[in-house]
Amino acid sequence: MYVTGISSKSIIEKLPYEKIDVEYRRFPDGEMYIRFEEKIKKIRELLIVQSLYPPQDVHLIQLFFMLDACKELNINVHLFIPYLAYARQDKRFKDYECISSKTVLNILNSFNLKSFYTIDVHEKKLLKHIKTESKNVTATSIIGRYLREEDLKDPVIISPDKGAIDIARRVAEILNCEYDYLEKKRISGDTVETRPKNIDTRGRDVVIVDDMISTGGTMARACEILKKEGTRKVLAGATHLLMVGGAEEKLKGAGIDKIFGTDSVPHKYSSISVAPLIEGELKIML
Ligand code: R5P
Repeated sequence: MYVTGISSKSIIEKLPYEKIDVEYRRFPDGEMYIRFEEKIKKIRELLIVQSLYPPQDVHLIQLFFMLDACKELNINVHLFIPYLAYARQDKRFKDYECISSKTVLNILNSFNLKSFYTIDVHEKKLLKHIKTESKNVTATSIIGRYLREEDLKDPVIISPDKGAIDIARRVAEILNCEYDYLEKKRISGDTVETRPKNIDTRGRDVVIVDDMISTGGTMARACEILKKEGTRKVLAGATHLLMVGGAEEKLKGAGIDKIFGTDSVPHKYSSISVAPLIEGELKIML
């Protein structure tokens, strides 16, 4: 198998496939230029790994140009997008809005992909728009393995809301420990209390897990609640560490003891590589 891509070089380096170099630069007016090395002309099947973290639009246009060049060369492309951008605009929240996730996927469909993979997509239902074989791969196995090496005291895995409970459950299964989610409860007309639904975390270590940390607001709030409950250590982890808008400061201010995530988005806390997930999927597919 041959592999190429621009935004996920550190992932590609860890894959045991032959690399295809791609030159990219900007014209003086800011437009993007893309050219594959000549070796590509003999290739019939190619894996493209291109994550769509910020600046999302730059990484998207690079992807579209690579895919179009491959289409012209009649290359069968397996596309692996570790972080799928625009997945949060999965429906029309207000009249006349563009459902940008659907737009992105419709454009991808025009390149006749052989297969399509992404990791912990924000909304799984989105994949129904992909016309080829597609799969949402979960990073919970590699997150669980990473946490096994942490010295955790009587750990509990908690998701910041019910929506991410599946991530918490899967990670907890690997660690063989309990899991829960933070639940909002109305105590009186003007008081809402948020706390773990079933588990007392006093004196225990809690790992909060989610699909992504964007501005850090969700995690910071969850951490403050858990620290008030008497939790010993609070670790915050997510598949995609976007970490925008002062997220790190927010999390540290809330008392988070450790931040971790995968390299779907390059960041100083992205220490878990998704390369084994890609290799695993390719082995099944080939
Ligand atoms: C929400 O549905 C997501 O799963 C994350 O909880 C959210 O996107 C995190 O965003 P932020 O870090 O800005 O609170």
